[in-house]
Amino acid sequence: MEERKIPQHVAIILDGNGRWAKKRMMPRTYGHVQGSKNVESICKAAYDMGISYLTVYAFSTENWKRPKSEVDTIMQLLNSYLKDCLETSKKNNMQVRVIGDKTGLPEEMQKKIAELEEKSAGNTGLHFQVALNYGGRDEIVRAVKKLAEKVKKEELQPDEITEEMLSGELDTKGIPDPDLMIRTSGELRLSNYLIWQLAYTEFYFTDVLWPDFDAKELEKAVDYYNGRDRRFGGI
Ligand code: FPP
Repeated sequence: MEERKIPQHVAIILDGNGRWAKKRMMPRTYGHVQGSKNVESICKAAYDMGISYLTVYAFSTENWKRPKSEVDTIMQLLNSYLKDCLETSKKNNMQVRVIGDKTGLPEEMQKKIAELEEKSAGNTGLHFQVALNYGGRDEIVRAVKKLAEKVKKEELQPDEITEEMLSGELDTKGIPDPDLMIRTSGELRLSNYLIWQLAYTEFYFTDVLWPDFDAKELEKAVDYYNGRDRRFGGI
């Protein structure tokens, strides 16, 4: 029998917290609380399975358009998550990186992120990326601006620009592109997530709502990935 392949990098769009809570006659914020607890469980499950990189979409550049009370609760939750993450990253030997436009986040949060990234940088377990105030197009525009600066300073000629150079200016610099992208809750959209990095990635969509997505569901996604014939250099 052919050996089961474990994807090196899994990217997840966490979706369905609100509907999960609604089904239980609870406020949407209750769904976000459960959803953020589930992130920790999935980090552990992923690493136990042999996945080396996990990237989750926690807050998009679009999410600011939600009602202020919901945005405030999510921000509070993310703040307390980042605080707890200092401990859990140490305990689980996890290296944490935040991707997205950090300058658009509250200052307090930026400080927490800097501390977390710095303190977890030497950890050798799971590489865990959290997308916060993240949008794929925004990430590409920020990368292009950095290259344009180099051109302006005459450190670079426009015709010397390569795909690798652009990749090297993205927030995911140094991280291999995802092998598998999972979106929960039945939506079949990319929602501006890692649009450059997902060019050759396998997609797995499931109706399961994010707070219910457990280790078994992750196994199912990896099984699906194994059923696919990855053709390098193909289409
Ligand atoms: C997805 O469900 C929820 C979000 C994208 C918002 C915030 C995410 C969390 C609180 C998860 C926490 C992440 C970390 C890293 C701690 P939804 O509200 O879009 O659900 P719906 O589609 O059912 O309304």
